Amino acid sequence: MKVEDIKKVSVIGFGTMGTGITQTIAQAAYEVIARDITDDLLKRGLEMIKTGPFGLEKAVQKGKITKEQADAVLSRIRVTTDLAEAVKDADLVIEAVFENLDAKKKVFLEIDKSAPRHAIIVSNTSTLSITAMASATSRPEKVAGMHFFNPAQVMKLVEVIRGVLTSDETVETVRGLAERLGKTPIVVNRDIPGFVANRIGVPGMLEAIRLYEENVASARDIDNAMKLGYNWPMGPLELADLVGLDVLLDTAESIYMETREPKYNPPVILKQMVRAGLFGRKVKKGFYTY
Ligand SMILES: NC(=O)c1ccc[n+]([C@@H]2O[C@H](COP(=O)([O-])OP(=O)(O)OC[C@H]3O[C@@H](n4cnc5c(N)ncnc54)[C@H](O)[C@@H]3O)[C@@H](O)[C@H]2O)c1
Repeated sequence: MKVEDIKKVSVIGFGTMGTGITQTIAQAAYEVIARDITDDLLKRGLEMIKTGPFGLEKAVQKGKITKEQADAVLSRIRVTTDLAEAVKDADLVIEAVFENLDAKKKVFLEIDKSAPRHAIIVSNTSTLSITAMASATSRPEKVAGMHFFNPAQVMKLVEVIRGVLTSDETVETVRGLAERLGKTPIVVNRDIPGFVANRIGVPGMLEAIRLYEENVASARDIDNAMKLGYNWPMGPLELADLVGLDVLLDTAESIYMETREPKYNPPVILKQMVRAGLFGRKVKKGFYTY
C-alpha cells in the first residue's frame, strides 16, 4: 500500500502517547479512531486532546490554529472500546499500549484478525522487538515500528523501524506518512533494542547518573558540562527528570535484558529513586526540585 492510499488510521491504546499520536494524525486531516479498554480512559484521553498541555485549546490560545480548525480536528476523531470496530476499516493501525511484549503480541494478533488484509500495522514501542510483534500476525511484511517521541504533537522525530520481514514498500509508506504528519522520519534498518535515539540517549543519561552517584560532580555541574561543552539544549539529568525516572528505568532495563551490555544496566541510585517515588518533573522531585 502506498502512502496516498492511507485514508483511515486506528490508534490502539489511548494513553500518553496514543492521545498525542491521535491528535497529530487528526491535525494532518486524517480520519482517526482510537481504542482503549474502558469508557473512562477514552474520556480522559479526549480531555487530554482538548485541554491538555499540548492539546487543541492551547494551540488555539497560542494562535497556532483557529477555533474552527480545532473543532474540525476533533470531528475527525472517534473513540471506541471495541477493538474489531476500531480497526475494521483501517488502512494503518498504530499500536500504543503499555511496554510489554506479551501484551503487544496479543494486541497484534487481535488487530491482524479484524483489520483489512491491506492494512499496515505499526508499533510505537520504544525498545521492544518489531519482529516479535510481527510474528503474532499473518502479515509480517506489513508490520513496522513507528516510534514517536513524547509529546507526539511537538517532537519532530519519528523512527521508522524495519523488522526482519518488513517489506521495502511498508517502510516507504510509513516514512511517507510520518512526513505527511509534519515529522522528520529516520529509517532504522535493523530491529535492535532501543533503535537509534534511545540507544545513544539512554546510556548518556545513565552515565550522568553514575557520575552523580559517585559524587564526581553536582547535578547542576554535570548538566552544565553537557550544555556548555557539547551544546546539548538540556543536561542529561534535567532530561532524565523530564522523561520520568520510572520511564527511563523501564527503558534501560528493557534494553539491558535484551543486550546484556553493562552500559544499559541501570545504576542502583536510579532504582532507589524510583522506589522512593522520585520520578522527576511529574512529581516535582527528581535530580532537581521543581
Ligand atoms: N511515554 C513516553 O515517553 C513514550 C515515548 C515513546 C514511546 N512510548 C511507548 O508508547 C507506548 C505507550 O506508552 P504510554 O506512555 O502512552 O503508556 P500509557 O500507560 O500512558 O498508555 C497505554 C494505554 O494503553 C491502554 N491499553 C492497555 N491494553 C490495551 C489494549 N489491549 N487495547 C487498547 N488499549 C490498551 C491502557 O489502558 C493505557 O491507556 C509504549 O510502548 C511506550 O514504550 C512511550
